[in-house]
Amino acid sequence: MKALILSGGKGTRLRPLTYSGAKQLVPVANKPILWYGIEALVAAGITDIGIVVSPETGGEVKAATGDGERFGAQITYVLQAKPAGLAHAVQVAQPFLAESPFVMYLGDNLVQDSLTPMVETFKERHLDALTLLSPVPNPQSFGVAEVDAAGRILRLEEKPQQPASNLALVGVYLFASSIHAVIATLHPSARGELEITDAIQELINQHYRVEAIHLQGWWLDTGKKDDLLEANRIILDTYSNCSIEGTVDEQSRVIGRVSIGERTQVRNCTIRGPVIIGNDCQLENCFVGPYSSIGNQVTLTDVDLDHSVILQGARVENIHHRIVDSLVGRRASLKSAPRHPNAMRFMVGDDCQIELTSP
Ligand code: DAU
Repeated sequence: MKALILSGGKGTRLRPLTYSGAKQLVPVANKPILWYGIEALVAAGITDIGIVVSPETGGEVKAATGDGERFGAQITYVLQAKPAGLAHAVQVAQPFLAESPFVMYLGDNLVQDSLTPMVETFKERHLDALTLLSPVPNPQSFGVAEVDAAGRILRLEEKPQQPASNLALVGVYLFASSIHAVIATLHPSARGELEITDAIQELINQHYRVEAIHLQGWWLDTGKKDDLLEANRIILDTYSNCSIEGTVDEQSRVIGRVSIGERTQVRNCTIRGPVIIGNDCQLENCFVGPYSSIGNQVTLTDVDLDHSVILQGARVENIHHRIVDSLVGRRASLKSAPRHPNAMRFMVGDDCQIELTSP
């Protein structure tokens, strides 16, 4: 069995972060989202992995992820010239996939369940497609399945305005090579993409063996800021541990599960876990509260924050309000300046969102 991770696409919902990088490399608990998928596949014994990349962000994905050695996998990169849909990505990857069955994993999804039982079910039941379903409050934003009383899929629809159920297609699918012939017959959808949802519907129409299983644990599609913060919260809650490699002075208090990276210096701070702080950071006179991830080379001075993600190289200094529920991009700078007039000065990039509370 092979795997195909989809790491191309446009990433429009995570702008502005995705203007300068791939959304699949945005970190959750200081690790790129994409890597969680690779690790889950390797844990299920699948090591021959193709990653679909776009011309814009492929170089960055390759540079960060490498040839797979660090994961115990062999990674082949497949270039998709334009983001023409999930089924188009499979089509482009057909030379890599050949006749092998494969797991298709969307590179911006995080799934708690082990993939092993899904792979076993797929093999034992000689399926053409196995999908995963999970109830969601906003089915309009997903592929939606209508199922019968026995849980069999009757019909699938991509982002329906009037969803037939609240069961969303999770971004992990298993396919036999029969999917390729069906994809070859597809036409672009109303949004101009070759939809994998339509391909699975066509398998059903042609009486191929398609089944669904219901996800047991959490699942996160990290497309938007709040989804990303939620993913960060859950991963820190589930997997964070205590490890202090940097230096923490005697005036500081470190409480709960806190991980502090190499060469990071913490002076006169309170850090209440779960929190992860990367390497080469400088923290002084700060409170860093639960569910915060601080990337490498970040400077925090005179700041209170919690439930936030601060990416590599950012500087946050002298902010007199607590920062919550925030996502600060790479090399961004937030500071209050002690100069007159007493006013706010911004240089805000395209598509940024800032919420201020009046004092
Ligand atoms: O997250 C689950 C949902 O994922 C499913 O419920 C939907 O049925 C499925 O269509 C998909 O919807 P999204 O709108 O969330 O897909 P998105 O455009 O975000 O793409 C998912 C991943 O695939 C993402 O890592 C980007 C990558 N991708 C996307 C396209 C359109 C590619 O590699 N190539 C592409 O052409």
